Amino acid sequence: MRLLDPATQPDAIAQAAQRLAQGGLLALPTETVYGLGARADDDAAVARIYAAKGRPPDHPLIVHVADEAAALHFVSTYPAVARRLTDAFWPGPLTVIVPRRAGMATASAGGHDTIGLRCPDHPVALRLLQACADLGVMGVAAPSANRFGRISPTRSAHVADEFAHHGDAQGEGLDEVWVLEGGDCEVGIESTIIDCSRGRPVLLRPGRLTLAEIEAVAGEPVEWSRPEAPDPAAPKASGTLLSHYAPRARLRLMSEEQVIAGLDLIEPELRARAIQEGGQIPPRMAVYSRSLWAYREPCVGLVHRSMPADAVTAAQDLFADLREIDALGVELIWVEQPPDHPAWDGVRDRLTRASAS
Ligand code: TXA
Ligand code: MG
Repeated sequence: MRLLDPATQPDAIAQAAQRLAQGGLLALPTETVYGLGARADDDAAVARIYAAKGRPPDHPLIVHVADEAAALHFVSTYPAVARRLTDAFWPGPLTVIVPRRAGMATASAGGHDTIGLRCPDHPVALRLLQACADLGVMGVAAPSANRFGRISPTRSAHVADEFAHHGDAQGEGLDEVWVLEGGDCEVGIESTIIDCSRGRPVLLRPGRLTLAEIEAVAGEPVEWSRPEAPDPAAPKASGTLLSHYAPRARLRLMSEEQVIAGLDLIEPELRARAIQEGGQIPPRMAVYSRSLWAYREPCVGLVHRSMPADAVTAAQDLFADLREIDALGVELIWVEQPPDHPAWDGVRDRLTRASAS
């Protein structure tokens, strides 16, 4: 793995753009999560993304563009609602699915006749996309830079965790992954996806932007295809598979009352075991809760983590916190259900999926 850091290497962006232009893989920062990129118009380069991630090849990827003009390169028609949304929210954490121009970025689109497009609001990503455009590369296909089915990376170190051994002697012949440093991702969960290809806008994946914000700009109701009731018409896409974003540990979503009742049951046993074993026992489960640890004593044998109390910060920290908890080797994570408020839709969606595996 090679790290390029624009803060210390003046030619980092140029090198990264060259790498992509030559068909190589590059992990890039965005404001949502890090993406694993390849030039969108090169089917062989895109195939390397699928191989590196272990992702089934009919799952479409999002193509990242420098601006709306570059987006038009990939579309056959640009529906009015897509234009309203991208005018309002680009650059930003919004992906639109629109009809694809025949023959363009076929592998990126997983063979579907639509394409997902996004202009990310991250200074390093935007400089990179502009440098790519200057080399004639109009779009960079990039799914989240994690192995298939795992938690998305929100720090460059997470990308290293996922792909550190690629391109090594032990790397199964896979390409070396280069990583462009862009700091911690500010949004922390993946972009909101709106399918604008079906005549009426459909929310496929909630993100930081709320449904109300999107409907206000769309000027029409936006239907939500929820994970609990998958829309059979939606193309098979990993971001909409129920058991996605899973940590290694089993994750259960519970009400605060359920967490308390469960802890009341198991804590006496944990304390007794700890006394038998000389004071300490390795933690086998974690509790990730918004409010509990403000008033409840931590217990031996349990990992205690606090979920931020506001939705924006909770999204920012979510994947990093789950990775950190997972790395402690616990078998079970009890997560307090987020509030039933639209601002939490994105976080609730990711946790619901993680708990389904
Ligand atoms: O925030 C994000 O969107 C991040 C960063 C890197 O931009 N990317 C991301 O990509 O989350 P990925 O591949 O992990 O999720 C992309 C999802 C697919 O799983 C699928 O649900 C949807 O985007 N998608 C892409 N193209 C599509 C299409 N043509 N039709 C339907 N869904 C599509
Ligand atoms: Mg993903």
